[in-house]
Amino acid sequence: MSTETIIEARGLTKRFPDQPKKNSKKVVEAVSNLDFHVGRGELVAFLGPNGAGKSTSLRMLTTLIPPTSGTARVVGHDILTQPADVRARIGYVGQLTSGSFSQRARDELLSQGAFYGMTRAAAKQRADELIESLDLTGFALRSVQQLSGGQKRRLDVALGLMHSPPLLFLDEPSTGLDPQSRANLWKHILDLRTQHGTTVFLTTHYLEEADRYAERVMVMDRGRVIADDTAPRLKAELAGDVLTLGFATTSDAERAIPVVQQLTDRSVRADTETTITVTAPDGDTLLPSAVRALDAQKITVTRATGVPPTLDDVFLALTGRTLRDAGETHESEETAQTDASPDDENSEQPNDHTPTATTAGARR
Ligand SMILES: Nc1ncnc2c1ncn2[C@@H]1O[C@H](COP(=O)(O)OP(=O)(O)OP(=O)(O)O)[C@@H](O)[C@H]1O
Ligand SMILES: [Mg+2]
Repeated sequence: MSTETIIEARGLTKRFPDQPKKNSKKVVEAVSNLDFHVGRGELVAFLGPNGAGKSTSLRMLTTLIPPTSGTARVVGHDILTQPADVRARIGYVGQLTSGSFSQRARDELLSQGAFYGMTRAAAKQRADELIESLDLTGFALRSVQQLSGGQKRRLDVALGLMHSPPLLFLDEPSTGLDPQSRANLWKHILDLRTQHGTTVFLTTHYLEEADRYAERVMVMDRGRVIADDTAPRLKAELAGDVLTLGFATTSDAERAIPVVQQLTDRSVRADTETTITVTAPDGDTLLPSAVRALDAQKITVTRATGVPPTLDDVFLALTGRTLRDAGETHESEETAQTDASPDDENSEQPNDHTPTATTAGARR
């Protein structure tokens, strides 16, 4: 991967007026002072609970809404002063599906190709490739409004990929897809990177997808990026393996705690009456050492398990909340409204698959 920066966000901030309350000075700070870089070719996953500010960040980076303050350079162009240049170089698949169009799915793809200046022949070839790889073959001649939610979603993704942009933003691309379609979508995303070096910046609520495929995970909470690293490093440094040791009696469990505690600086504690637990980054080696040390003290271990951490454990370690519980906790702040104009939203494009593509930046 080259070190060339494809996204550079500087102080990117978005405040929305709390519109339901007329004349209220309350604003929602959806995104606060984001600073990050993304290098060309990276695959970055943006994680965070509902309302964290992920979509708002993507919509600023793709020029769909203007920031309240700060700016970003995306594929070499400024989102504020050169939005058309940015849009021409990015692909964007928004969080919402394309809605219902009477056009047939394949024709929708061909129109998208024409929009990007592809020749008819090139657009047909690309559309047919995408139809096959995203499993749309049986539905390509149906009108968009006849497609199921999952089929529409696959069409959305195909629309974002039509012009093979160097930078692709995907907002929850796999939500609503069945497992096989999710696997196909991921295969396509990974192929894009291998074949074209495409930079991909996506959001997902499927933590195992981010864990498995993204080389970099940015965790967002309440408008801020609170962690930014590879998934293995985040898990090792912030969470750790959960080890549990079981014993025949409570007294064995009590005696075991100080023995295991000598092997780690992490806190070893009783879990149930007959089990003890410790969360440690080096679980693979700690577990056998603990069993050996307990054996040497004639304390018989009846059960030993080591569970590797998930990205949800990382979020829990960072915030004290799990991702599942953390949604929609954004508090409106009683902040004097500055440059957040209620008209901001009016600049939004009518449909989110309008050609845009950005790659989100990474905080370094
Ligand atoms: N147009 C708007 N007007 C007022 N508040 C808004 C607007 N758009 C977003 N918000 C608020 O900004 C915050 C961030 O929203 P955003 O859509 O970026 O979250 P998200 O991380 O994408 O969440 P999700 O995982 O649910 O998609 C939320 O509190 C949301 O209610
Ligand atoms: Mg969103």
